[in-house]
Formats: sequence, C-alpha cells, structure tokens
Amino acid sequence: MEVLKIRGGTPLVGEVEIPGSKNAALALLSAVPLSKGQIVLHNVPDISDVHIKLNMLKSFGALVEWREGTLYIDASTMHSWKPEEVDQRPIRTGFYLLGPLLARHGRALLPMPGGCKIGARPVDYHLKGLAMLGAKIELVNGCYQGVAEHLKGAEIYFDFPSAGATQHLMATATLAEGVTTIQNAAIEPEVTALAAFLCAMGARIEGAGTSTITIMGVSQLNGCNFRVPADRMQAGTYLLAGAITRGDIRVTGILPEDQTAMVQKLKEAEITVDEGPDWVRVRGERRPKGIRIRTMPHPGFPTDIQQPMSALLAIAKGSSVIEETIYESRIGHVAELCRMGAQMTIQNRTTIIEGVEQLHYATVEASDLRAGAALILAGLAADGETTIKNIHFIDRGYEYIEQRLTSLGAHIKRTDKRRTPIKDIETHS
Ligand code: EPU
Repeated sequence: MEVLKIRGGTPLVGEVEIPGSKNAALALLSAVPLSKGQIVLHNVPDISDVHIKLNMLKSFGALVEWREGTLYIDASTMHSWKPEEVDQRPIRTGFYLLGPLLARHGRALLPMPGGCKIGARPVDYHLKGLAMLGAKIELVNGCYQGVAEHLKGAEIYFDFPSAGATQHLMATATLAEGVTTIQNAAIEPEVTALAAFLCAMGARIEGAGTSTITIMGVSQLNGCNFRVPADRMQAGTYLLAGAITRGDIRVTGILPEDQTAMVQKLKEAEITVDEGPDWVRVRGERRPKGIRIRTMPHPGFPTDIQQPMSALLAIAKGSSVIEETIYESRIGHVAELCRMGAQMTIQNRTTIIEGVEQLHYATVEASDLRAGAALILAGLAADGETTIKNIHFIDRGYEYIEQRLTSLGAHIKRTDKRRTPIKDIETHS
C-alpha cells in the first residue's frame, strides 16, 4: 500500500501553476457521447477520476489518445450504450453519461453513481429532469436502465442548485427537440465551462453562469478544441499550504474571481493575500485568527475547501466554527486531525475548532479526497514525520501533488515510486 510521508515545519515558498479542473474535466467527458466528431482537450488533469472516466468512454467505443499532454477523443466510433462491466470502480460522474447516451442511442445502462462518502448524495433531480425530457428510467439490480425514443425540451426547476444535475440536464437537452429551461440552476464555474464546451461543439445555450439557463436543441454536435480551466479547489489547497506553513506561495494560471470567498475568508483570518489578473499570492506571516465559515453554493464558500480550511483553522488563535450546509457528513478529516493534536468537535453538521499552537505528527488515514488534502496540509505544518494512508483518495483529484509541493520546498514522499504519468504511456484504446 502506498502512503505519503511528510516531514513538516518548512515554510513553503514559490510559484505553482494550477492544473485543469477535475470537476470541469469530468463534466466535459460526460458530454462526449453527444458528439460525433473529434474532440481535442487541453489541460486535462492527470488524476485517477479522469482515467476511470476515459476507460468508461472507451468501453462505449470512443477512441482515446494522449499526445504531448493533450487529450484526443474520437467520439464518432461510439457504438455501445452500456459498459462492458458494471462492477468497475464507480465514480460519481460516471452516472452523468446516462443522458448523453440516451440522446445518442435512445437507450442506456449505467451503474448507480459512486464518489466520495460525504453524505447521501441522491440523484433524484437528475432522474426527474431526464423524465421531463422524455426518458423512462428504471433502477434494476444496481443499474439505471433508460430508454428515450425522442427527447423533447422541458421546463426544469431544482429545489437546490445542484451542480451535477445542472450539468447533466443542460448537456442532455442540447440534443432535445425544442427549448429547455433550467430554473434555480447551479452557477458554479464548472457549469459555465461545460456550457462553453457544448457551444464550441455547436450547442445553443444562453444564461450559463446565471440561475436560469435556456437550451435551444440542435440536431447534432460536432468536434471541438477546448482548454479545461484551472482547478479552483487545487488552487485553494496550495494557497492554504502557503498560509499553514507560514510560507509565501503564488498560484498562477487561475481566475482570481473564482477564489473570492476563499480569499475573503483568508483575509478575515488576517492572512496576507494579494491578487493579480491570473494569480493569487498568500503570505502566512502570522498565525491565522479564528473565523466562522458557512459553506454555500457558488459564489459562497465552497464545501470542497471546507475540510482543507479546517486544517489551517486548527492552528488559529482562538476558536473557529465551520458550518457545512451542502453535505450531511463531510467530517472524515476531523478525527484524524484530532490525532495530530487539533481540538475539534462536531455538532450535527458544524465543526467547532479551538485553535492550538502546533500540530504533531501521527499516522492518519484519508477518508475522502478533501479529507486527504486536509491531512496533507496538517502534515506540512506538524512537527515530525506524518504518515498518510489511503492516498488513492488524494490521487482522485490532485495532480502530482507531491511533485508540486516538493518544488515549493516541502519534504514529502511516497513509499512506492509514483507511477509513470498515465498520459505518457497510454495509447489508442
Ligand atoms: N442533490 C440532491 N439531489 C440530486 C442532486 C443533488 O438532493 O439529484 C443535493 C446533494 O445531495 C447535495 C447538493 O444537492 O446536498 C449539492 O450537490 P451537487 O449536485 O451540487 O453536487 P455534485 O454535482 O454531486 C459536485 C462536485 C463536488 C462538489 C459539489 C458541490 C463533481 C464531480 N463533484 O458534486 O465535488 O462538492 O458539486 O459543489 O463535480 C469534490 O471535488 O471533492 C467534490 C465532492
């Protein structure tokens, strides 16, 4: 089993270029069956969730090739509407292929979604929306089976602005006949990125990035050339690495306006933050001050940064409160941070943190992706050598994290050598 070993206590200093967004890339890959052309994607992150998704696309008949860091997908050969195996390790967005496969083949079969265990994560909005577009879907033996002879535009409303449901239904509706509107849509940057990608393939979408999206159905989508925007969660994690190690880190290649909630909260905690047109710099000149945080849909404070942020607040002066409003149980990091000397308690969905001056090394386990990121941050600040187990969770969403942290001066290594980047060894399916 691979583990990460981190010798903490070194201020991290330097510049880090942020790779493409996991959640944007996964949304784009879900839309691939809608296209009958050649899709060229730049800046796709080399993370395990992307490789799982690409294997799913291959099993549906797509030709996938990495060339010099660029991903080429030939969607014209996609012939299958069900995966070769239904027991492959599921990821959440595997399920988001359901609508696009229905639009292409009129039928589809996919296993129930997986993903990080951070709450119930139902898919009822997706299923209701697909039904409104004209699909009939049943759950049979752990798989969703769908048929849709003819997809038709509909008026869709969400009780909560779900990022995944907005992406799934917006993509599916591009090939439905007539007009679809999505009300109370998510306005996450990854929704806007997907809309831009779909439009680059010939879709007609208005209002992405607002709470009402209108999709005018077209008869076919073609290929395109598209760059995946930078990952705001990875960017946020590196900013926190600067703050927690009392270092000086500049993250580049990002859209600072996507980081506003995070930047404001860092400033409130008395961390020094500067911004430029495509960068944010954090200087951890002092211990942060305790603050209150409430997670919210975009542009509120992102739930995905709540766990990494709690590692920083664990060493704050005074107490902090983090209220998680999106997921019921995004708390896997708390017990592990407490092993490292943090003083944290949980009341329902709220974490109460009494800041301590120093975290101490321990052997800890990642329970999910962002819990893993929180543990890395804690390890970077702790005295002694921290060991993190279950790092496959971290590999789901952080590209070459130990290489990037090492370049900033961190002492971090895997017990086994990092695999050869899959980009470099993969060829045609
Ligand atoms: N929800 C429902 N029914 C649905 C869909 C969502 O009740 O049919 C609820 C969820 O249970 C949750 C809330 O709506 O309480 C928001 O869920 P959303 O659908 O927005 O989340 P998601 O699309 O499943 C994406 C990211 C998550 C991120 C959330 C919120 C991907 C692959 N995942 O999930 O990312 O936390 O949006 O921003 O895009 C991560 O990267 O660590 C991660 C978990």
